[in-house]
Amino acid sequence: MDVFRIEGPVRLSGSITVNGSKNASLPIMAAAVLAPGKSLLKGAPQLSDISVFSQLLEDIGCKVTRESTGDIAIDSTAIGKPVGEYDIVRRMRAGICILGPLLVRCGKAEVSMPGGCAIGYRPVDIHLRGLRELGAQIRLENGYIVADATRGLRGSEIFLGGPFGSTVLGTANVLMAATLAKGTTVIESAACEPEIADLANCLNTMGAKITGIGSPRLTIEGVKELKPFAYEVIPDRIEAGTFMAAAAVTKGCLHIHNCRLGDLMAVVDKLRNIGVTVEPEKTGCIVACSGSVSPTDITTQPYPGFPTDLQAQFMVLLALAAGNSIVIEKIFPDRFMHVAELARMAANLRKEGSAVIISGVKKLIAAPVMASDLRASAALVLAALAAEGETIISRVYHIDRGYEKIEQRLNPVGAKIIRESD
Ligand code: EPZ
Repeated sequence: MDVFRIEGPVRLSGSITVNGSKNASLPIMAAAVLAPGKSLLKGAPQLSDISVFSQLLEDIGCKVTRESTGDIAIDSTAIGKPVGEYDIVRRMRAGICILGPLLVRCGKAEVSMPGGCAIGYRPVDIHLRGLRELGAQIRLENGYIVADATRGLRGSEIFLGGPFGSTVLGTANVLMAATLAKGTTVIESAACEPEIADLANCLNTMGAKITGIGSPRLTIEGVKELKPFAYEVIPDRIEAGTFMAAAAVTKGCLHIHNCRLGDLMAVVDKLRNIGVTVEPEKTGCIVACSGSVSPTDITTQPYPGFPTDLQAQFMVLLALAAGNSIVIEKIFPDRFMHVAELARMAANLRKEGSAVIISGVKKLIAAPVMASDLRASAALVLAALAAEGETIISRVYHIDRGYEKIEQRLNPVGAKIIRESD
């Protein structure tokens, strides 16, 4: 159980490069199951979630290797066991998106229900509704989703919207299953996240026929078979947004490479509104901030709205703003594990239902704090960079799930982070 010792305050300055997207890599790894043979995923980051997903694929019969180039080779020629085991899926919810590919490849699948999550209650009812609409017989047994489609799947018109809008992995599951279904499928209220567009583009390189990519209405003309992919994943927009917030929180200046501003328009708009400069640049952007930022309101929404995965990091920024702000969490109403930890660092926060009222303070103060989930822990790192004194963050394994060796990437631009085994 590693811990971080972080000395603050520091001012970040210099160049940093964004890695490939975790949340695009995971469903694309699942897509390898759709086409017997060797697929190659380029640019996937070295993260514990990627390793756990590789274990899941190995467990069903794939051979997964990380090549010397860093690419991930997935040989899905032999799928012997169409089962997503509880022991793996409980560690990484994204394991659920193996369900659609297994079902259409093997005609049946058993995948563990994901179980609890620190960011709140996360059902998969919409995933199951979509797959049933494609003709799958689905029941729950012993904590497992047992799905059957021995007679194949058939195209259908599916409304995939839910109480919080679209579902990202739900769209991925149904989209992948529909590629090999008989006939045409229309998915309405599909997720428009860049990670879903990346998955759809990858599927089209495999021979799928998907149109409407990037829009809430996807049309998929089923095909008989797909071929393995060799595909480069998009940059990680949430990692890029985290580095942008880090530059602003430390009143620094970062040149962020391999960052697509087009995937972050809501975020860039918010940063500029509060006084942070974001200059586009050939390979990414330059983010700079000289003084205190202005207060503002943030409401998280499905893409292209403000991403829930940057809510915690921006709460740190607004905790140091010159005035009062409000953050409203519309995707995961209980996603506030970071609030109590930030309060330990002297942030002035008041939680009201699925909103937090933030009264900006002049400075944060170091304290021992505990990471609880991936993005909350990234927020604690940002807070520690700005806080006076040495902050100790425990359970940093949460950070390793989504940020590759973050200390080795932030220290060269001015951070003082030491990783220690507890
Ligand atoms: C994806 O999770 C991301 N994970 C999450 O990032 C991200 O926070 C989330 O999308 C929203 O952007 C990956 O891509 C691996 P959803 P997902 O289904 O697909 C409700 C990170 O930090 N819902 O879009 O699981 C659900 O409870 C992670 O990298 C249903 O009600 O999220 C939530 O309130 C955390 N029924 C809302 O929809 C369903 O069947 C959106 O969830 C499915 C979802």
